[in-house]
Amino acid sequence: MDFLKELSAKQKKINDYLEKAINGEGLLQKEITEAMNYSLLAGGKRIRPVLMMATCEALGLSEDEILPFAAALEMIHTYSLIHDDLPSMDNDDLRRGRPTNHVVYGEAMAILSGDALLNLAFETAISAPFDAEKKLKAVALMGRASGYLGMIGGQVVDLEGEERKLSADELTKMHAMKTGALIKAATEMGCVLAGEDEGLLSDYSSNLGLAFQLKDDILDETSTAEELGKNIGSDVKNEKTTFITLYGIKETERMLEDTTEKAVLALQRIENSEFLKEFAMYLLKRRN
Ligand code: IPE
Ligand code: IPE
Ligand code: MG
Ligand code: MG
Ligand code: MG
Repeated sequence: MDFLKELSAKQKKINDYLEKAINGEGLLQKEITEAMNYSLLAGGKRIRPVLMMATCEALGLSEDEILPFAAALEMIHTYSLIHDDLPSMDNDDLRRGRPTNHVVYGEAMAILSGDALLNLAFETAISAPFDAEKKLKAVALMGRASGYLGMIGGQVVDLEGEERKLSADELTKMHAMKTGALIKAATEMGCVLAGEDEGLLSDYSSNLGLAFQLKDDILDETSTAEELGKNIGSDVKNEKTTFITLYGIKETERMLEDTTEKAVLALQRIENSEFLKEFAMYLLKRRN
């Protein structure tokens, strides 16, 4: 298997779908559709939809069937980035290689375009060609993963970490929520839609999610804005508690390798998991 070729084929599929998802031509609200597309179509690695597509492929579902759900996850992720960059949150001005949404469209429009992407995600997901029972289960997982017990809950603890030093345990929980929840939801929703047990790949994806945020924190200190397409040093600027402030970069890198290894080991009993394994290694080594 040529992993990089497979990866870009999946990324292309999701990009083609997203390009057609929002059309503001002739609408009174044209500006918000521009703001939504500005962030949604600015590139991005498409990790969450790719993971969902790969999960479904391993379980025998076609990628095309799953696209509306995969696109929905990317819409929620993009909304979380628009809001994460706001002055009241991380106050960053570069994202996906472009000035952040609020810098271009203003704060009000950035808040609204994030909200609109969140709503559109649910509308898009339920348009997928699955029976109602499967869709209901998958949509419930998506709502929970992005809500106060998932991504938003993690963002709340992340902000608290600016005010007081979080413990290692709190930090692990925070990562599992703010980043892990959507990544875990990608496999859980895929499993449910494929008619499998929702937890079939959860050991893999929860470790992958934790590893993903560990790497994000490392890159925030070690990469460049050109390479990342977003501000570096954002965590230091905001005095966040991260694994790097608790343990330093070397130890955080060790934890990243350890967590990636756990993700890969969790695939042992899964057939057709070659892509998922390579995906974990790709995320470990990624430079952006
Ligand atoms: C960045 O996510 C924010 C985190 C949850 C760590 P990604 O690194 O997936 O960002 P894009 O989608 O590629 O821009
Ligand atoms: C982002 O965490 C988590 C989200 C849910 C958006 P970060 O604040 O570390 O993400 P970046 O580094 O700005 O992409
Ligand atoms: Mg943040
Ligand atoms: Mg941020
Ligand atoms: Mg970060």
